[in-house]
Amino acid sequence: MSALTLSTSSAATLRADAVVIGVAKGPKGPVVAAGAEAVDKAFDGKLTAVLEALGATGGEGETTKLPAPSGLKAPVVLAVGLGEAPAKDEGFAHEALRRAAGSAARALAGSKKAAFALPVEDADAAGAVAEGALLGAYSYRPARNAAAAKKDGKADKGAPLAEIALLGGKPRDKAFKAAAERAATVAEEVNRARDLVNMPPNELDPKTFAAAAQTAGKEFGLKVEVLDEKALLKGGFGGIMGVGRGSDAPPRLVRIGYTHPKAEKTLALVGKGITYDSGGISLKPAGHNETMKCDMAGAAAVFAAVVSAARLGLKVNVTGWLALAENMPSGSATRPGDVLKMYGGKTVEVLNTDAEGRLVLGDALARASEENPDAIVDVATLTGAMVLALGNRTFGVMGNDDAFRTSVYEIAEEVGEQAWPMPLPGELRKAMDSPVADFANMGERMGSGLLAGIFLKEFVGEGIAWAHLDIAGPAYHESAPYGYTPKGGTGSAVRTLVRLAEHTAAGDLG
Ligand code: BES
Ligand code: MN
Ligand code: ZN
Repeated sequence: MSALTLSTSSAATLRADAVVIGVAKGPKGPVVAAGAEAVDKAFDGKLTAVLEALGATGGEGETTKLPAPSGLKAPVVLAVGLGEAPAKDEGFAHEALRRAAGSAARALAGSKKAAFALPVEDADAAGAVAEGALLGAYSYRPARNAAAAKKDGKADKGAPLAEIALLGGKPRDKAFKAAAERAATVAEEVNRARDLVNMPPNELDPKTFAAAAQTAGKEFGLKVEVLDEKALLKGGFGGIMGVGRGSDAPPRLVRIGYTHPKAEKTLALVGKGITYDSGGISLKPAGHNETMKCDMAGAAAVFAAVVSAARLGLKVNVTGWLALAENMPSGSATRPGDVLKMYGGKTVEVLNTDAEGRLVLGDALARASEENPDAIVDVATLTGAMVLALGNRTFGVMGNDDAFRTSVYEIAEEVGEQAWPMPLPGELRKAMDSPVADFANMGERMGSGLLAGIFLKEFVGEGIAWAHLDIAGPAYHESAPYGYTPKGGTGSAVRTLVRLAEHTAAGDLG
């Protein structure tokens, strides 16, 4: 990942390949934001006029490159749009800063060092700039890219911006330093989740995913337990086994636990980890399976969030459950019509093997509930219906406790993740009635994103607050990058989970 440094230098004197400044959209044209004073001075106070002449508007995501005048050490100035200027005595929204920093970092891919002179009023704003820049600078870098470039002697074109120097704050100020450090940790963990999602499914299967958890566990002092197919069979995990049995790569259930000696609360996080979803015997048609390596994004988010909690030393216990399987058709695969006995004893008639996420999650939710955590949050690329309802950028938040669901939704807003609360209407339950089992794994088409949530609710222990995040839309970004969101894996839900753990540690929740 790119390096983050804090600097007290002025934007004029810092040695860098580019200086990044902010431009807002004012009622009468672009308005240069605070932080760019030294740069404006080098332009003899004509920076706004130059930007306007170049057609810059200050619109969100807009980037304008200018050759730097003498008087600046850096050869290039990059002006990045912050969107509408805020009201007089208000600072820029953190998400506007995050996105602008991300757009700037992307525009500077291949550069060695950029100085970010964006408007940072306080430590949290500086944290947002750092986070946005580090997330925007991300690119998926299989080892072979760099190796191939080295062999050809060519410049490594896909290399991200290597160093981000944050200006405008006070590096010696504790809050500022802490905000920058938190941003670097969280960004690195979001990027860990992105890497896992971007890995081709022949390189990341349940076993290699579990091994990655073990490696991280050693590095960050986490307790990692892996149930392999023998242990899963013996333990009665009929959902995970039922989904995984069609694949040559057998399933795993990983428990990855972070504990703090003074923790008062325990949070359980459960992630859907289908390393590839072909649909199984209910095979997906071409056009629907090309991106299905992303179907483990929930488990990746949970994994990254637990590691974040450990690295940040949060005063809360966080237990991650990664329900890992590959959903494939074969002679040994579960058939539509089969009845599975789930962990805890409930039986499910599998009517559609492509509704596999709820089967692995049902087992994991029941197992997580046995430890009686204070709250459970599951994260899953669960339904196409949620994408139809909320689009590609917003995840749905459901749950069994309105107050907890609202808290999770508000936390998503707070960290700049787009989310929306969705209901779990009780009457949908009977659509899953089955003549041969406790219920079926699908029901009617209408409201089927909510129906999946109602299915999951059956496996949550009595009295445990639970929220379900359906990230099928935002987990994998197929169109052009924007702000700090790259193409491919996005790391959706990691920042929400980390902030939830922080609030839980602080005792802000129930
Ligand atoms: N992994 C898919 C859901 C999905 C769709 C994720 C699009 C990301 C993007 C899930 O396992 C699935 O196939 N769901 C089915 C359920 C149906 C068969 C009841 C769906 O949504 O169509
Ligand atoms: Mn599926
Ligand atoms: Zn799936």
